[in-house]
Amino acid sequence: MKKVLLIGGAGFIGLNICQHLCEKGGYKITILDNFFRGKKDEVLSALVDKYQIEVLTGDCTDAETYRQLELDYDQVYMLASVVGVEYTQKIPEELIRINTALIFNTLEWLRGANVGKVVFTSTSECYAGTVEQFNYTVPTPEEVPLCIDDIRHPRFTYAVTKMLGESGFIQYSRAYHFECTIVRYHNVYGPRMGFKHVIPQVVQRFLAKEEPFKLFGHDQTRSFNYIDDAVNGTVAAMETKNTDGEIFHIGDDVAEITIGELVQYMGSLMGFEGSYENVEAHSGSVSRRCPDVSKARRMLSYAPKTDWKVGVKKTVAWYVDYLKAGKNVFE
Ligand SMILES: NC(=O)c1ccc[n+]([C@@H]2O[C@H](COP(=O)([O-])OP(=O)(O)OC[C@H]3O[C@@H](n4cnc5c(N)ncnc54)[C@H](O)[C@@H]3O)[C@@H](O)[C@H]2O)c1
Repeated sequence: MKKVLLIGGAGFIGLNICQHLCEKGGYKITILDNFFRGKKDEVLSALVDKYQIEVLTGDCTDAETYRQLELDYDQVYMLASVVGVEYTQKIPEELIRINTALIFNTLEWLRGANVGKVVFTSTSECYAGTVEQFNYTVPTPEEVPLCIDDIRHPRFTYAVTKMLGESGFIQYSRAYHFECTIVRYHNVYGPRMGFKHVIPQVVQRFLAKEEPFKLFGHDQTRSFNYIDDAVNGTVAAMETKNTDGEIFHIGDDVAEITIGELVQYMGSLMGFEGSYENVEAHSGSVSRRCPDVSKARRMLSYAPKTDWKVGVKKTVAWYVDYLKAGKNVFE
């Protein structure tokens, strides 16, 4: 049995990784989360009941939290973070404090622990500025220099903390002898991803019968990465040998679509027959983003398999059912 620790493992991606590993078998899993965003819901309890995973509650901004952990793990997935554009706008100073502290405390814990390998989860936001300001190539490969547009803009606080994490995990892994691989996600989506992403927000607006329906940033492009594919890529980054110190772009290079296409497809799924109005994007929002995932294809045998229309359909259906059942909107 491999001993696995998922820090921030009750969240969207973490719990899907947990589920995947449980179904695969051969893992003894511990989740550490403060349930700021992760939920103690029926999905988590079902995994606890069926697979006896251990769930620890603790705030990773407090170094004492790490005392609950054992010192030896074969694999650590570092997923804890405050995520979401809304937080960067509302509480940028708290986002800096929390994300910096939880990265630092994890690194300091790793210094004294006996861990085989860590995967640190980063983001395309770290290089979005390079694409925007310097016209860097899209689809974008891993060697892109990291850059943000404007250090004063709160939107970029999240990217700044992820850059710290990438550098921090790589340097600590070299100094304290554990393996480390970085994955940079690109718009991961799927059921139970919270309500701060574009898809659930658009579902809510269709249900609220917005008319005309505003298409913010209609001509901006994104490549959406269905959760099952993101999980496969992340687990492959952890399990594939000779990936120490490597960075992988995990995303979908097949379907780069405009926000307009996405929203209008969702409208068709939800029976919307009204009109659309194109509106300028929110400030700080990048105009184009698509990863070059050829390195992950080559080294990890990663291949995004879910057609975006299939993934969006499943996701919309989950949110419509959830909201129509009168359940709470969660972070
Ligand atoms: N979802 C995406 O599209 C995406 C894109 C790029 C990067 N990422 C990164 O992937 C990781 C997982 O993302 P996600 O979408 O699952 O987000 P999520 O918010 O669902 O998961 C993050 C988890 O971290 C936990 N957490 C936050 N602060 C904590 C603290 N102080 N102590 C302990 N736990 C804490 C939250 O409760 C949550 O369960 C994050 O690091 C995120 O930055 C995600």
